[in-house]
Amino acid sequence: MPKSLISLSQWTQEECYRFFESSLKFKKDKIINKQNGKYIALVFFEPSTRTRMSFERAAGWVGARTSLLSSSLGTSLEKGESYEDTLLNIDALGVDQIVVRCPEDMDLKSIESQLKTPLICAGWGKRAHPTQALLDYVTLYEKVGSLKGLRVLYFGDIWHSRVLASHQELVPQLGIECGYWGSSLSNDLYNFRKFKNKKEALEWAQVVIGLRWQKERHQESWSKDFLQKEATLSSDDMVPLASKPLVLHPGPVGWGEEFDFSIKAYSENQILNQVSNGVFVRALLLANGVNV
Ligand code: CP
Repeated sequence: MPKSLISLSQWTQEECYRFFESSLKFKKDKIINKQNGKYIALVFFEPSTRTRMSFERAAGWVGARTSLLSSSLGTSLEKGESYEDTLLNIDALGVDQIVVRCPEDMDLKSIESQLKTPLICAGWGKRAHPTQALLDYVTLYEKVGSLKGLRVLYFGDIWHSRVLASHQELVPQLGIECGYWGSSLSNDLYNFRKFKNKKEALEWAQVVIGLRWQKERHQESWSKDFLQKEATLSSDDMVPLASKPLVLHPGPVGWGEEFDFSIKAYSENQILNQVSNGVFVRALLLANGVNV
């Protein structure tokens, strides 16, 4: 297994389940391999609430010290230093792990190959968000046990989601059945079932994973098409269903956009449980690296 975490495609089914079990054991027992003296650089070139604070909280659990770069303010990025040079300099400072959130156009894999320090991707443009995918499936494993054959519907902005990109690397190993419902402008997603309407999609789904409408990444025409499709999930949509699906969302939620406000009180809403589980997932990765 590589020293860094950018992609999940190399994880075997056995490694996935071992990691899920370890995360939930840590959640239950609160016992972890302490890393006193470990030094972790948290480098967030793009905004974050959940992921950044989750890694900070996780570092606290493992007894590591952190150094935070959040936005360019007060850094040499303001003087024109590149993201790549910034990471090479942090590597040269001598830290034990680098957690990084970066934009789409950065060649993270190429930069990672130049670093001595293991890197954990904390969100890369719309290309990857592996720790989010792990915490999402830890949350589902916690709720339903074996994930094989679970019917998971992706709902919302399929087309600009780094979360979905990392899910696509993980779901084949887990034997998940995937479907999606979104804009008519969409291309087909390989091995995902495409639904024509929301009712049919919800009747099929055991889990709904909402994805934020990333309007900052939309073309104007695309955005109009998407927004006019009334593609909002509401608790009223759940009323006729014989079996109520679990609802997840990586956050931040676009309330009134992909999710109606009524989803806040929906009984199967797992959104804040995901946030809680994210700390345990990230603490394991800080404590053990990508050795699962
Ligand atoms: N889910 C997620 O990545 O949230 P943040 O952008 O707040 O970190």
